[in-house]
Amino acid sequence: MNQNTITVTSPLLPNLDEFHDVLRDIWESKWITNNGSFHKRLESALCEYLKVPYISLFTNGTLPLLTALQALKITGEVITTPFSFVATTHSIWWNNCKPVFVDIDPSTGNIDPDRIEAAITPRTSAIMPVHVYGQPCDTGRIQKIADKYGLKVIYDAAHAFGVDVNGESILNAGDLSTLSFHATKVFNTIEGGAMVMHDAEMKKRIDYLKNFGFAGETEVVGPGINSKMDEVRSAYGLLNLKQVDAAIEARHQVAIRYREALHNVPGITFFKDMPGVRHNYSYFPIFVDSEKYGMTRDELYFKLKEKGILGRRYFYPLISSFSTYRGLLSATPENLPQAQKMADSVICLPMHHDLSQDDIERVIDLTLN
Ligand SMILES: Cc1ncc(COP(=O)(O)O)c(C=O)c1O
Repeated sequence: MNQNTITVTSPLLPNLDEFHDVLRDIWESKWITNNGSFHKRLESALCEYLKVPYISLFTNGTLPLLTALQALKITGEVITTPFSFVATTHSIWWNNCKPVFVDIDPSTGNIDPDRIEAAITPRTSAIMPVHVYGQPCDTGRIQKIADKYGLKVIYDAAHAFGVDVNGESILNAGDLSTLSFHATKVFNTIEGGAMVMHDAEMKKRIDYLKNFGFAGETEVVGPGINSKMDEVRSAYGLLNLKQVDAAIEARHQVAIRYREALHNVPGITFFKDMPGVRHNYSYFPIFVDSEKYGMTRDELYFKLKEKGILGRRYFYPLISSFSTYRGLLSATPENLPQAQKMADSVICLPMHHDLSQDDIERVIDLTLN
């Protein structure tokens, strides 16, 4: 990659000397995985940072989705959004359930609560919304619908690390929430993830499930999987947690500058901060109206790319248009006009803690057209 290339994201890396020190501790202890001391410490540090009662670490952000559906014994149909990363829908499919796509609310990019009830059938057992780009879903309305029909709610909160609404973590909504700590995320453990739950019983159950179902040396209480996080990545996560607030603030400053520079450009729109929300600025999506902008989304995307600015068309194509899912009744484009429009117009501009002022201005200059 050319040194002038500006990537859409850049990993938050711990201080290397500090990482060497913790590696030495791990080497000396010879305890490298299986609920070691760094794993325990990261779980409690995350509970405190995220203001959640219980958390269970995972080896990536896909396995907690799979495990959440298992833990809640979800069967039949699961209502979800097509405007996400494929792992959301794949987790439903891997549990032998049928995803039912519901269109999004264009003001947030999230599943439109007004459209959920029409998609409920006697076979529906859960709703799996996504806080896309870390934008909080309307959790109150979704919960009301779930309560009315006796449905479980599992939030894919892969993008929503540290997002609060009126001082409360968005991760406390629903029955379970899952996080991704992939290298591209606001907080990363290289690969990694977690599940947030409300009570100790569920935490115990999830901890069994992520460790083959073992409840003791010789007792297996269920058909578990192996999705434990190891000690090296737990220690790396503990170091990264110390700098995540500064990283979020750096991202905030990038968002402020992008918004200031782009707010008057005809045909370019973006989300504003929502009242009462602590955002994490995990992405900076812009939406291109080609008629007003004078260039299509793809023309802009390739123009940026040619100049070494690697935006991403997240989330395009829609999950519902991939071959596995496109045959589903709910996957028809007529059912998903808002999601289709967003997928066809979005570019996520470079957004991370380490963007220089020059980089930001280069992105802006080229986007100004
Ligand atoms: C919305 C969403 N869900 C799930 C995942 C899966 O996370 P992981 O890559 O950590 O398995 C991602 C990853 O990018 C994601 O964006």
